[in-house]
Amino acid sequence: MDRGSKPAVLVTGGAGYIGAHTAKALAEEGYFPVVFDSLSSGFREAVRWGAFVHGDIRDASGLADAIETYGIRSAIHFAGLIEVGRSVQKPDLFWEHNVAGTVTLLTVMRDMGVERLVFSSSAAVYGQGARRPRDHSRGCAQGSGQSLRGH
Ligand SMILES: NC(=O)c1ccc[n+]([C@@H]2O[C@H](COP(=O)([O-])OP(=O)(O)OC[C@H]3O[C@@H](n4cnc5c(N)ncnc54)[C@H](O)[C@@H]3O)[C@@H](O)[C@H]2O)c1
Repeated sequence: MDRGSKPAVLVTGGAGYIGAHTAKALAEEGYFPVVFDSLSSGFREAVRWGAFVHGDIRDASGLADAIETYGIRSAIHFAGLIEVGRSVQKPDLFWEHNVAGTVTLLTVMRDMGVERLVFSSSAAVYGQGARRPRDHSRGCAQGSGQSLRGH
């Protein structure tokens, strides 16, 4: 994909389900998606728009390189582990990817003056509940809900 003068957007987890669709939508809207993904559960073949950087969001220097190389000014953050059952068995692993990884991403962005972020997280974070719409003041669910919210 020819970048031309298109603004580059970092898409962490862009080889995954939601990220790949987002990269396509960004390309259709005139942006240049830069997918940053470890391929732990994503697929290289799903990255068909923009550029691909194989990296882990826990690696600050890899993120910084990608931001500098592509002149990134904004990011959409989808990278993370999402399986609820596994998150209960391995909470430390999920904390490392979802909480520490996000902190690393935010720190690198702040240090490099990248101020725009969209963070995607599913409603599973808040567990089951009758009240709709859900609001952010409610307690979070066990397992991945806790790691995604950083509790
Ligand atoms: N699937 C849904 O219906 C849905 C709906 C709304 C929001 N979300 C949220 O969107 C995000 C992505 O969900 P998904 O369904 O696309 O999951 P997914 O597993 O398909 O995608 C996650 C991607 O993140 C990558 N990844 C994981 N850890 C990484 C790390 N440390 N560094 C770099 N890349 C890493 C994986 O390789 C994968 O490509 C999650 O936060 C999820 O809560 C999902």
